[in-house]
Amino acid sequence: MTTKLTGAGRLAGVIGWPVTHSRSPLLHGYWLERYGIDGAYVPLAAERDFEGVVRGLRAAGFRGANVTKPWKEAAFALCDVVETSARRIGAINTLVFDERGVVGSNTDGFGFLAGLGEAGIAVSGQRALVLGAGGGSRAVCHALDEAGAHVTVTNRSRRRAEQVAENLPGIAVIDWERRSQAIGNCDLLVNTTSLGMAGSEPLDIDLSRGRATLCVSDIVYVPLETPLLRQARQSGYKTVDGVAMLLHQARPGFKAWFGVDPSVDDTLRSLVLATLGR
Ligand SMILES: NC(=O)c1ccc[n+]([C@@H]2O[C@H](COP(=O)([O-])OP(=O)(O)OC[C@H]3O[C@@H](n4cnc5c(N)ncnc54)[C@H](OP(=O)(O)O)[C@@H]3O)[C@@H](O)[C@H]2O)c1
Repeated sequence: MTTKLTGAGRLAGVIGWPVTHSRSPLLHGYWLERYGIDGAYVPLAAERDFEGVVRGLRAAGFRGANVTKPWKEAAFALCDVVETSARRIGAINTLVFDERGVVGSNTDGFGFLAGLGEAGIAVSGQRALVLGAGGGSRAVCHALDEAGAHVTVTNRSRRRAEQVAENLPGIAVIDWERRSQAIGNCDLLVNTTSLGMAGSEPLDIDLSRGRATLCVSDIVYVPLETPLLRQARQSGYKTVDGVAMLLHQARPGFKAWFGVDPSVDDTLRSLVLATLGR
């Protein structure tokens, strides 16, 4: 609960179905408290009529909302402005209501890069190998490409990797079977497959060809240290876990709705880790 909420308070929330699993209310609630902002951020369970929900929120004076499953693609239809990030990634996770109307963007790529930045990893000019071709991969590939990295993507089904590259010219595709071999030629390895996630099989990859300066990042965050990250750490490589992306992706929305670019601190990280059973 925020310490301060008046009739002039700024309002935002997260629209999804189900929405109970969303950590966004925790993140934004923490920042509202920390910065003493007159505002609130609420979970908005919307099983149907997404358009009606958005219309209602605008009429009620909300500043915008996060969008989660199953509405990330449907959001395109009702946006007056779609930012490049969302168009290139093919999904919208943040809506801002302003004088332009409904503005849709995707902040996952920002979150991923900010997580690397926090760990002191610069990506411009670096060679990145991205494993996977789902929604997470599109966000990571877009962000790396825009930040000036040379990106290669590989996926079990090559067709899906080619679809990622079609949307992001300049990205190379290699066969899934070549993933271990390709590590010798890269500075940054990013897992965006669901392999290694609790309950799924681990990613089968040989890191021994990596150079001493290799950085390994996994966007899977349950468990926090995936088998890939453990293997990388034991091999002496720098690692970046998936929680960094999860936390930082919330910053642009908070800034747009509440007027402060919030910082990701240890307390927030601990709060979120506690929800992951850590
Ligand atoms: N840290 C964050 O903020 C953040 C953000 C987004 C996602 N994530 C995490 O990233 C993971 C992927 O999410 P997503 O939304 O991108 O999922 P998705 O769209 O369902 O994509 C899943 C990916 O995993 C691959 N895959 C699944 N099983 C495989 C197997 N047995 N062998 C090889 N490849 C396999 C798929 O390959 P095929 O195409 O061949 O099926 C596909 O590339 C999830 O754990 C999610 O929680 C984290």
